[in-house]
Amino acid sequence: MRVAGPVVLVGCGRLGSAILEGWLLTDTVAPSDLIILSPSEKPAAEAARARGARINPDPEALKTARVVVLAVKPAMWRAVATPLLPYLGDEATILSVMAGVTAPTLAEGLGGWPIVRVMPTTGVSRGRGVASVWAADPAARALGRALFEPMAETVDLADEALMDAATAVAGSGAAYVYAFTEALARAGEAAGLDASTADVLARATLRSAADSMGEDALDALIGRIASPGGSTRAGLDALDRDGRLATMLEETVAAAVRRNREMG
Ligand SMILES: NC(=O)c1ccc[n+]([C@@H]2O[C@H](COP(=O)([O-])OP(=O)(O)OC[C@H]3O[C@@H](n4cnc5c(N)ncnc54)[C@H](OP(=O)(O)O)[C@@H]3O)[C@@H](O)[C@H]2O)c1
Repeated sequence: MRVAGPVVLVGCGRLGSAILEGWLLTDTVAPSDLIILSPSEKPAAEAARARGARINPDPEALKTARVVVLAVKPAMWRAVATPLLPYLGDEATILSVMAGVTAPTLAEGLGGWPIVRVMPTTGVSRGRGVASVWAADPAARALGRALFEPMAETVDLADEALMDAATAVAGSGAAYVYAFTEALARAGEAAGLDASTADVLARATLRSAADSMGEDALDALIGRIASPGGSTRAGLDALDRDGRLATMLEETVAAAVRRNREMG
């Protein structure tokens, strides 16, 4: 179902463009309900303009804004948002996708508007992202979900402090998977494959495994491939000898959580 606008997107960089593309792809926001604020021309914004979106209109257009999405770098949000505030009406909600800027910090800089934080991945551009949502205000949370659910697997966080953990798992997770794929390819080389063959096999395996992920329990998926006494079982036993796989990933996520907190 479409989310009624106007929806104001502030910042059309890597993530802002992905969000915009995702909304248009999934028809979450009518192009005519989109207002994009961007200091420079961006292909995604131009594509939206061609379908009826407004780019950098007179600020009076913000008066009826239903939601303002802040997608600028954390270091510059105050400078960017402050000049917009006098134009916003009582009906507006502020949605921040910025990493590490907490709701109390946003509230202190923005005033009384309801705030919802969403941590999405750029996969939203293809309608296949991941998004974690937190808001103290139920209506703001519902609005955040409505804007991201059509283009992302969306989870509600019970506590804002969990945003760092969600970011360490979902935001950073694709990079861990790429690193795993790289290591799998190198291991294939060590077992005698040439580099290019190992690379193709490792990438295709990860892609195919992701396609099969579905809703099934992960141990059931493993059980379909690893029969007792077989070669996959032998590989898995080596992979997780003495629980080292679980330990390694715990350390990986904990390090990313720590860094998220330091940057916040
Ligand atoms: N990238 C990700 O995967 C990701 C994931 C989760 C969260 N985030 C969060 O998303 C935010 C944006 O990250 P990003 O990677 O998209 O950064 P980015 O590519 O640098 O985008 C930031 C954009 O803000 C624009 N901007 C600067 N001043 C502005 C102004 N006054 N009004 C409107 N827009 C303005 C910049 O425009 P110009 O290009 O014209 O300078 C730039 O395109 C960050 O807070 C980050 O923490 C990013």
